[in-house]
Amino acid sequence: MNAFVQASHLRSTGTTSGSPVGSDSRRGAWSAGSLRALLTSTLQGDQVIVVSNRQPHSHAWRGGSVQVSQSAGGLVTALEPIARACAGTWVAHGDGNADRDVVDVNDGWLAPGSTGSYRLRRVWLSARQVRGHGDGLSNSGLWPLCHMAHVRPRFASADWDHYRAVNQRFADAVAEEAHRPDPIVLVQDYHLALLPALLRERLPRATLVSFWHIPWAHAEQMAMCPWLPELIDGLLGSDIIGFQTSRHVRNFMESARALGRPAVAGPRCEIATGGRRTRVRDFPVSIAWPGDAEDCAEGSGDDAGCALATLDASRPSTSESRFLGTIGWPYPAGMKLIVGVDRLDYTKGLIERLQAVELLLESKPQWRGRLRFVQIAAPTRAGVAGYARLQCELRAEVERINARFAAFGPAPVLLLDTHHDRPAVTALFRAADVCLVTSLHDGMNLVCKEFVAARDDEQGVLVLSQFAGTTDELAQALIVNPYHLAQVAEAIHTGLAMPVHEQRQRMRSLRATVQHNNIYRWAARMLLDAAAVRGSREPAGTEAAAQREADALSGKP
Ligand code: G6P
Repeated sequence: MNAFVQASHLRSTGTTSGSPVGSDSRRGAWSAGSLRALLTSTLQGDQVIVVSNRQPHSHAWRGGSVQVSQSAGGLVTALEPIARACAGTWVAHGDGNADRDVVDVNDGWLAPGSTGSYRLRRVWLSARQVRGHGDGLSNSGLWPLCHMAHVRPRFASADWDHYRAVNQRFADAVAEEAHRPDPIVLVQDYHLALLPALLRERLPRATLVSFWHIPWAHAEQMAMCPWLPELIDGLLGSDIIGFQTSRHVRNFMESARALGRPAVAGPRCEIATGGRRTRVRDFPVSIAWPGDAEDCAEGSGDDAGCALATLDASRPSTSESRFLGTIGWPYPAGMKLIVGVDRLDYTKGLIERLQAVELLLESKPQWRGRLRFVQIAAPTRAGVAGYARLQCELRAEVERINARFAAFGPAPVLLLDTHHDRPAVTALFRAADVCLVTSLHDGMNLVCKEFVAARDDEQGVLVLSQFAGTTDELAQALIVNPYHLAQVAEAIHTGLAMPVHEQRQRMRSLRATVQHNNIYRWAARMLLDAAAVRGSREPAGTEAAAQREADALSGKP
């Protein structure tokens, strides 16, 4: 086809979930409604509790009044529609300075929505706990450990103590929120690896599903973490552990094997511990497709699903027009728009991306004065060393590149390093000729799925890193190695020059994939697996059942 990386050659696209457990035979698209129906039919209205460190909404005092805003990042984008569809409970750290002012006596707040709401239960952490658990072990240790982005992980014993204490704190909160002995608990991400085992002690009849949103690197790299055995045993408290890709599943199985945790023989990925077994599966996370997300968080103004659902491409609203005005849109005929939308994180490859745009302008002079690259980079993790420095570096690079090409017209690069709400981001996606998602390493990356969902005109080109989990699904993007600047520059050039019919052909296929593999399918697959686990248990988990299970696992007849 071209000089870009062929996704199918890079990736094994087979899934580990081809077993009867959790098989999703549904052909049509999943929606909030069909997920709700699954909950009432197959799961008979069981209680669903989502747990994550980051809360979906935070409350803050601004100018004498309390304002609510949605948190950035793929986890919240993915889980919020599920919490609504399940009318569930979401347990998370309350970090807003007005959070305590709006909760009820049990530290809960009802996240509103016209056809579905859920209870947000806030967990309070001290400043020292946030530093040790969040900024420390989670984001300075586990984040760089799991992402191959050349940042050395930092492991401090004091951070580990806080990590354990905070996981315990979350276990207490989940146990308090459980209003029956056997809820389905969906534990999210690397901040809470110990939680499943702690919950197993507190709620032995619960069905525990953990989902690891970031990569699980290869076993040798993961072994750098001094507390890897504890983390793995914590996760093995789950009935099901989900990863974004089959590679991450394989890496996890290898890590567990290396530590002597017995993998069950056979094609299924299962690990046996203490008479129980944990199924390990890939469940690629996704977004709510426009129109499938039924609810808006009133007052937040930035719910991803709603922004996409209500935006009409032909008539941008006033706030969207205002935002587009700030980037100088609409451009004169012949000018092209390249966009990037990320958290300001070193895993996203932002410096390399800028340098690829620079190389394009250098090597293809026909684009000088004829393109603009707008990068939204939402500041994040201010308490973690390196993030502030990255912001300075980015600004300096933008200044340098703009100065270099100043003679050819308007500045080629515009860096918007503040938070932007969903309608602004969607408006930018719709205006773009090319969208760049060139992460150095990414568990999944939902920005590219949001770009595709926004393009109901079937135009626009996606340039996508071969190191993002999404690449398995989105083979119709231009797949690049983000470290190969010449290849990225070439891909941008190809995208800018791509004929309308080819854009349509690729975008149609990308849209069909994302619409089908939407966030409700992700949740349904996990919940079907959870239902199978529940169905396979004897009432109240009798000893005989546990023994039979243990015998089966150890291969006894
Ligand atoms: C990634 C992680 C999430 C995290 C998000 C935002 O998507 O997988 O767990 O919530 O980044 O990061 P933050 O540190 O702001 O929660």
